[in-house]
Amino acid sequence: MSAKLWDGRFKEATDTSVEAFTASVKTDSRLYAYDIQGSIAHCKMLARQSIITEDEADILIKGLDKIKQEIEQGAFKFDDALEDVHMNIESRLAVDLGDVAKKLHTARSRNDQVALDTRMYLRDECKEILRCLTTLRREFVGLSKKYIDVVMPGYTHMQRAQPVLLSHHFMAYYEMFKRDNARFEEGLARINVLPLGSAALAGTTFPIDMNYTAELLGFSKVTGNSLDAVSDRDFIIEFLASASICMVHLSRISEELIYWSSAEFGFVEMPDSFSTGSSIMPQKKNPDVCELARGKAGRVFGSLMALLTMMKSLPLAYNRDMQEDKEPLFDTVDTLKMCLLVYGKLLSKLRFNQDRMKEAASRGFLNATDLADYLVTKGVGFRDAHRIVGETVRYCLEEKKELHELTLEVMRRFSPVIAEDVFDALSLGSVVNRRRSIGGTARKNVLAAISAAEEELGLE
Ligand code: ARG
Repeated sequence: MSAKLWDGRFKEATDTSVEAFTASVKTDSRLYAYDIQGSIAHCKMLARQSIITEDEADILIKGLDKIKQEIEQGAFKFDDALEDVHMNIESRLAVDLGDVAKKLHTARSRNDQVALDTRMYLRDECKEILRCLTTLRREFVGLSKKYIDVVMPGYTHMQRAQPVLLSHHFMAYYEMFKRDNARFEEGLARINVLPLGSAALAGTTFPIDMNYTAELLGFSKVTGNSLDAVSDRDFIIEFLASASICMVHLSRISEELIYWSSAEFGFVEMPDSFSTGSSIMPQKKNPDVCELARGKAGRVFGSLMALLTMMKSLPLAYNRDMQEDKEPLFDTVDTLKMCLLVYGKLLSKLRFNQDRMKEAASRGFLNATDLADYLVTKGVGFRDAHRIVGETVRYCLEEKKELHELTLEVMRRFSPVIAEDVFDALSLGSVVNRRRSIGGTARKNVLAAISAAEEELGLE
């Protein structure tokens, strides 16, 4: 059993089951670099404020650096009995440096320390996630440019509805991931606040300078209330919510790619390098990457729910419940990064079957709305036009024909206002390209959306 840093008032040793139960070091050792960086900044601040001497600060900083090196070389042994990463590092400092090490924890507590470390960690990870999102958005723009002439059926209720450009479909995802980007960026502003100096809950009696520590650690603000600072986990919940929404988006594209790659659809061919085989059926090529991304959404939502539940009704200020924040947080960061990374690589390798998509867009009366719109331009009220086209479609179903396959004479039986120009109105190209309302699927609009996206991404 290792000596505890807090055991002065205890008569009995901690039960081993309690040690195992309360220890978090297997999880939070991941924060070591932030813990050390935070401690070094704290030392510098303490020395600057003459709370410790410059010499003491130097010794402490050297000691901390040495521990960091050891951890990085894999030579440091984390001990469960020392609970968490913070105690492991501090205890080791005491072993290495003796009495001076005991000064490091002046004017701080583990409560503000862990809040600090988590914020530093998440700040870095958010930046990484933002980089992954930029790559992903670039890929969507690349695909949109590559497939600008491909028409596919657009769906509602998973029934063919109206033709759209495949690029328009990609740019829809671009919009989703752009909002995700904004959410992570906005969250980052609330993560980037220094809590160190709030101490256990009420602040400290020492003349610390939180603004100086913030400056050293690159924080743009300091927290305004010590009770809140040590017990606020909103920034994690917000991150998990943003991650969950992002996973919703990834799960939607995943779902589409999964069924688009089925023999029934045949819209897309998955690259071999991003597919897996079956252990029994030799012919199989499975879209496991997309399925896993779809499935992993569940664990991310679970993490969000875990944090919300853990924080609900917690009285101020710090409670040990909060130690449970790290596993869901780390798991979400890892999961999301992995999904974004894999998708960033997968997209450009997909091969879309242009003919198959066009064929699907050409059958199933996807130009029915256009015939109704055409009648409206000839003076028919939209509701009447809707009924006329409905009757025409019913006729087509009986005759096994598409609208544009009827002769003018037959069409005029349904409405005498129909003239030769109807065939142009019903052609696939015009059905797509006449949808020029803002955000519509016309080629011109999609090209403009692509240019705007390129500008946003600093491309061009
Ligand atoms: N391991 C703890 C956590 O992650 C650190 C803070 C512990 N504070 C305390 N008073 N026991 O939340």
